[in-house]
Amino acid sequence: MSAARRMNGALLSIEGLRVGFRNASGGVIEAVRGVDFAVAAGEAVGVVGESGSGKSLTMLAVMRLLGAPARTTGGRVMFDGQDLLDVDEARMRAIRGRDIAMVFQDPQSSLNPALTIGRQITDVVRAHRRVSAGEARRIAGESLERVGVREAGKRLDAYPHEFSGGMRQRALIAMAIACRPRLLIADEPTTALDVTVQAQIVDLIAELRRDLGIAVLFISHNLQLVAEIVDRVVVMYGGKVVEDGPVEAIELSPRHPYTGLLQACVPSLTAPVGPLVAIEGAPPRLGRMPQGCPFSPRCPRVVARCELEMPALLTEGERRFACWRPL
Ligand SMILES: Nc1ncnc2c1ncn2[C@@H]1O[C@H](COP(=O)(O)OP(=O)(O)OP(=O)(O)O)[C@@H](O)[C@H]1O
Ligand SMILES: [Mg+2]
Repeated sequence: MSAARRMNGALLSIEGLRVGFRNASGGVIEAVRGVDFAVAAGEAVGVVGESGSGKSLTMLAVMRLLGAPARTTGGRVMFDGQDLLDVDEARMRAIRGRDIAMVFQDPQSSLNPALTIGRQITDVVRAHRRVSAGEARRIAGESLERVGVREAGKRLDAYPHEFSGGMRQRALIAMAIACRPRLLIADEPTTALDVTVQAQIVDLIAELRRDLGIAVLFISHNLQLVAEIVDRVVVMYGGKVVEDGPVEAIELSPRHPYTGLLQACVPSLTAPVGPLVAIEGAPPRLGRMPQGCPFSPRCPRVVARCELEMPALLTEGERRFACWRPL
């Protein structure tokens, strides 16, 4: 599929998105600085980058869930031919959970400890569908079973504390898929889990995508982890997309030096543990973005131009990268 065709057939298209914070002196500090990428129906896209690159703010802006002081300062988020940044709050509430669902990093804080798992799933179902209490419970049981919870019917009456961390994440995913959304946004859904459970959750998301045709946006620090289940990878750094393309291309021949280092950085879950190469230095601080390429202070291939001028995100076939001296 060509890049142009994919954009035309996009389910979600993020265009020039900007998110900023107002600082003490009334200025705006931008943390997301013109992000563009699209997700086609049924496609799985991974968004990777180190801490602070703007991944979560981008997703929260898409869902219109940014909390003060963060706010969207520019761009469009096209979904189903409408700009989500433009629709009224009632319409957005209807879209959230029904058309686009989100699973967060920490299952503990995303579940209400005072309500049963079943109640929390049925609440989502009944917020979006006119069904009886009995039918909502049936759908909730089916969703919980779908995510691999055994004896799901009985477990509906359990409270979150009676579930393990992995089970709680499954319950959240059950809640997210209960209304069969077209897009599931999973923001570091495995970070709080141990390695074995991480792998199970990744497999589960891949399976839901395959069986239910749900498009997935999977956010992670770990390129190797996302590469196992996505079609395409978007690499973010300093609030910008620095590279994206089909997963094989990104893995086999990264063009941006940052992607190259990310790739060497974290051992895979399945491959034998290789040397752990951390990227030297730290990501730029907010409000202290370099004038040129945000990665230039840490880049092994840096030349004078990189420090002065931000390279544009250029398209080459199926991929895009923003670098003056690509690999
Ligand atoms: N409420 C806030 N107030 C001030 N700064 C914030 C706030 N939320 C996020 N930021 C800053 O915005 C930048 C981008 O944050 P974001 O949460 O999107 O990063 P991320 O890529 O999701 O990182 P992580 O991998 O750690 O989750 C970071 O520098 C972060 O410190
Ligand atoms: Mg985050």
